Amino acid sequence: MRKIQSVIKGVRGAPDILPADVGRWQRVEVATRRILENYGYQEIRTPIFERTQLFVRGIGEGTDIVEKQMYTFEDKGHESLTLRPEGTAPVVRAYLEHRLFTRGDLCKVYYTGPMFRHERPQAGRFRQFHQIGAEALGLGDAALDAEMLDLLSHLFDTLGIDGWHLRLNSIGDDACRPVFLERFTRYMRGKRERLCPDCRVRLARNPLRILDCKVEGCRRLVARAPNPLESLCEDCEAHFQRLQELLRLLKIDYSIDQRLVRGLDYYTRTTFEFINPALGAQNAIAGGGRYDLFVGEMGGPPTPGIGFAIGMERLLLSLPQEGAREAWVGVFAATLGPEAFQRGLRIVQDLRRQGLRAALDMEGRSLKSQMRLAHKERYRYVLILGDEELKAGVATVKDMAQGGQEQVPLQEVVNRLMSEEYQEGDRGEENRDA
Ligand code: HAM
Repeated sequence: MRKIQSVIKGVRGAPDILPADVGRWQRVEVATRRILENYGYQEIRTPIFERTQLFVRGIGEGTDIVEKQMYTFEDKGHESLTLRPEGTAPVVRAYLEHRLFTRGDLCKVYYTGPMFRHERPQAGRFRQFHQIGAEALGLGDAALDAEMLDLLSHLFDTLGIDGWHLRLNSIGDDACRPVFLERFTRYMRGKRERLCPDCRVRLARNPLRILDCKVEGCRRLVARAPNPLESLCEDCEAHFQRLQELLRLLKIDYSIDQRLVRGLDYYTRTTFEFINPALGAQNAIAGGGRYDLFVGEMGGPPTPGIGFAIGMERLLLSLPQEGAREAWVGVFAATLGPEAFQRGLRIVQDLRRQGLRAALDMEGRSLKSQMRLAHKERYRYVLILGDEELKAGVATVKDMAQGGQEQVPLQEVVNRLMSEEYQEGDRGEENRDA
């Protein structure tokens, strides 16, 4: 007897997306792409791995992502590579490598795909997760920030996400951030003993990170510490005020969260997160901000930029429960006997080539169980082809959604099924994506 081997399981924190769930993913992706393109973004596709140095330099050495979460490996050529933990550094790399800045225009790109971070898996937090992100490079004006926040608020409303909330902050630039850091570090040094062990290390290496520590004791200290908004220089203050004016004009609600510094080092000025409070601990459905110094720091010409990324898994968890079941779409050919099967196969081929969802049974099921299958899979019409029908040169077409049936001459059946009369309210593939 063959020995039964134990089944190899997937990697923890890297879930499969099964066929029953894929429809929801696709609907969100289609809606998001449409909105991004309406706002002038074009898709860019960068590789899933990059040189490790890109992320170390780009995201910052003192960040949790670089210190603890990267999937880094040496390839057979002894090169250190890393599975991308995020999409901004790769986009900036591609922007510089392909000299997209020479076109002179504002460069607006978006990307979708898996990202990898070795975090402790929990509800809404995975080791492989998916982002839809966008980056706009080449303009420092707050109007671009406002447009991006408008895009996201429009998307979340379109998807019917209830109760989302925008948190906003400004963390200054290279003129005012050092002033803030000096004040903040001085304050925190005096309280060093009350900080958590991680924050004591952060105090020496990357004090800004203390601001978003989740430990209660640190949060209490941060609440009383100097905050970035108090230290903004004139230009950063003007940028932040203008952004808020524009948000009021566009009727986008927000609250200011002075602790919102975010976990990546490239940000300057605006930082933001969209929260869905119903999600519990991992409630940020999207995050982003401005990074006006990043392109220059990566060796390019000084180029301001801003971007965001949406966490797809969290966005999907936030969607309203699907109401109506999927529409009745397409044709199922229920055939009895080899001759009818061959006839059915040709008809199904024809219907599919004309763009319709169509199927037939290949397992020799009884008519009753073929009908049951067609019903379960929500085919709008069942085409019944048995000996009697073949002899008479007709097929019986049964309407599964509205009831009723009629006989149609076999020669005409494809044209009839494709006709407006039949396809009214059943536009095949199209209305399944809507
Ligand atoms: P981030 O805040 O690290 O920003 O990630 C953006 C979003 O990805 C989060 O708000 C969350 O929804 C989702 N996310 C992050 N980590 C996980 C995880 N382990 N499991 C599930 N979802 C997760 C960035 O990645 C920046 N690149 C965004 C950006 C673009 N900033 C400027 N441009």
